[in-house]
Parts: sequence; C-alpha cells; structure tokens
Amino acid sequence: MIFTGKVVEMKPSANIAYLVFAVALFFAFAWPEFAGAVGVPYDQKAEEGMDPDGIGFNNDPSREPPKDTLAARNRAAMKKFAAQDYSKLTGFGGLKGFSDEMLNNHFKIYQENVKNTNTLFFLLKRKIHEPENVELNRSLNHEFACMRLHELYFSNLGGNGRLDNKSSLYKDICAEFGSFERWKENFTLMGMMRGEGWMILYRDRQTGSLFNMCASDIGGGLLADCTPVLVMDVYEHAYSPDFHLDREKYIAAFMDNVNWEEAGKRYSEK
Ligand SMILES: [Fe+2]
Repeated sequence: MIFTGKVVEMKPSANIAYLVFAVALFFAFAWPEFAGAVGVPYDQKAEEGMDPDGIGFNNDPSREPPKDTLAARNRAAMKKFAAQDYSKLTGFGGLKGFSDEMLNNHFKIYQENVKNTNTLFFLLKRKIHEPENVELNRSLNHEFACMRLHELYFSNLGGNGRLDNKSSLYKDICAEFGSFERWKENFTLMGMMRGEGWMILYRDRQTGSLFNMCASDIGGGLLADCTPVLVMDVYEHAYSPDFHLDREKYIAAFMDNVNWEEAGKRYSEK
C-alpha cells in the first residue's frame, strides 16, 4: 500500500481488512447507482415500504420486507381500515330478490374502496408538502365516502323490512312525513332520480329532524353533523345485474330487506 509516496508494507491480514472495508463502502454508497447502470434491479421502492409496482399492496409473501423496520410499519399503516364481512347477506337466509353474484361483485367494489382508502392515507402522510397532495386528498375524499357509505348500506340490509310501529323512529317518521307510507314514497321517488348515487334518510343532530337526501360520493357524500339513519346505494352496479334498468323494482326489493333494527340504533345515537 502507498501512503505519501512511500511504499508501506502491510501484513496479509491488514490487506484483507482493507479489502472488506472498501467493499462495505461500495455497497453502502455506490450500489444503487452501480446496480442501475448494469441493469441489476435495485428495489428502492420496496426498501421504502412501497409496492415496487406502484401504488397499492404487495400481496406476494415472498416480497414481504422484514418485520420491525420502517418498511414494515409503513405497510401496517396501509392496512389501517379493514373491509367488513357481509357474506351473511348471501346464500341461504340471505337477501330476498338479490343474487349472490350481484352481491359478491358489489362486495368487491367496496373492498377496493377500503384498499384505496388505506393507500391514499398512507401516501398523503408521506407527500404532505408535494403538489399532488391536492389530488390525493380529493381521491381520498371519494374513496373514504364510498367505503363508509357501502358499510352503512350493507349493514342496514338483512332484515325483514318491517319497522316496529311502536319504535321512536317509526313515530318520528310519521310525525315528519305524515305517515310511514308517505316517507317511503318520497324516499323511493327521490331514489329514482337520475344522476345521484346514494339515497339517505338523515337525522339532523342539532334539530333532531328527519329528511331524505340524494347524495353523490364525489366530494364527500355525507352531510355535516347529520346521522345517516338509512342508506341505499342506487348506482347501477348495485342493481343492474339483477334488475336491469328497473330501479323502482330494485328499491322495492331493498325495502323488503331493510334491517330497521340497525337503522333504529343509528337513530338513537346522539
Ligand atoms: Fe355500491
């Protein structure tokens, strides 16, 4: 080895140590650039906890990063919201007039909303100061609303469609709309309007009043400080496979399957 123009004799063990040190330096600082130059796939995104294929989940167990690392914590953060299981709405004892195929496809749409909500929350935390934050936030607004509205919709199904006429919800609907049938007619007619994706019976938490409202999930969907007591999905994917263009027939089938006990619980919440 040469230092300051002089040849310095080194022991073989020192030479080996020097070589190991040099190799370690190379992998620590130069490997990513070198790997890229020679075509070796350097998986920086995976190292950072991202799906190497882009936004979304990496479902291949062999590509799971080690646990107890920043990457592992990031991946856990991407699974914050869990898709609920609504399979009880299918099969024997399931919804009347709804095919299992239509419902299972609808569950998949909902599961995508959950997955996208997780991913967008994850990305927003990492890109808080970047310009695309605005678009990510807009997308998250839509996906989160879809996730929650689907959960409210599926969980207010699976009943016999009969609201106990002694319940406070029944009495208050009658007081607000004149009769239960008049509320139902209003809810149905508004649900048949074109261009809106959700039909919701709300309770205003400030005044306690009940009202029907059409809603789009683009831009949030839910009204501030109001409780969604009953939610009906009227997007075409919710009914067209079984009911084709007959939205009125779908709404009638929806009414026959409403779980009014669940709606009553929401109504009673302060
Ligand atoms: Fe839907």
